[in-house]
Amino acid sequence: MQNIKIAPSILSADFSKIGEEVKKIDECGADVIHLDVMDGVFVKNITFGPKFVKDLRGYTNKVFDAHLMIEKPWKYIENFAKSGADIITVHYEACGRRLKDTLKAISSLGVKCGAVINPNTPVKKIRGVIEDCDMVLLMSVYPGFGGQKFIPEVLEKIKETKEIIDKTGKDIDLEIDGGITKENVSAVKKAGANVIVAGNTVFKEIDRAKIIKELREL
Ligand code: DX5
Ligand code: ZN
Repeated sequence: MQNIKIAPSILSADFSKIGEEVKKIDECGADVIHLDVMDGVFVKNITFGPKFVKDLRGYTNKVFDAHLMIEKPWKYIENFAKSGADIITVHYEACGRRLKDTLKAISSLGVKCGAVINPNTPVKKIRGVIEDCDMVLLMSVYPGFGGQKFIPEVLEKIKETKEIIDKTGKDIDLEIDGGITKENVSAVKKAGANVIVAGNTVFKEIDRAKIIKELREL
């Protein structure tokens, strides 16, 4: 039995009232708050930094999952750890050979760590660090924007990653991010994902408690 966690991405929320949005999504049953950090260099969009995360910490006690879509992420992990992130994920595409050291540095700050790969990056690129991760994040869209279409080829990568995770015998979460809807959520769970990011699908709904419940139970 999988322990399914729903992680709304606040990228699709109204930033002009972000504290209230986060409080509401907590009350609607979100398990994790997914925070998309973008620097305008690693991806073609800019969002927010550690100060924003720190200010949000006052609005919820839910897990803060900081997805860093930035160049040289190792420079900023300490600031995000201090800002109240519970887990920090970094891209293989941004870290390259420094990935393992960056994951270790995150852990040594007392925060959970995770490796992320883009849709066109093979799982074998992170195979050697999966054991060091508390979570592995597979992108099912090219990062940068919410509301994109799910790339179905990622389903095979979920299965492949899940097999590697199972072989470690460790309790490592498998997160999927991008284009998740009511139509594809059961397929990603069946493939082995247990942390489900959803931005547009959650925030476009008026009844957010209902959609979170559906995404969890479907
Ligand atoms: C994409 C972000 C995602 C995105 C998900 O760069 O990493 O977290 O906000 O949004 P949806 O669910 O709308 O694809
Ligand atoms: Zn994300």
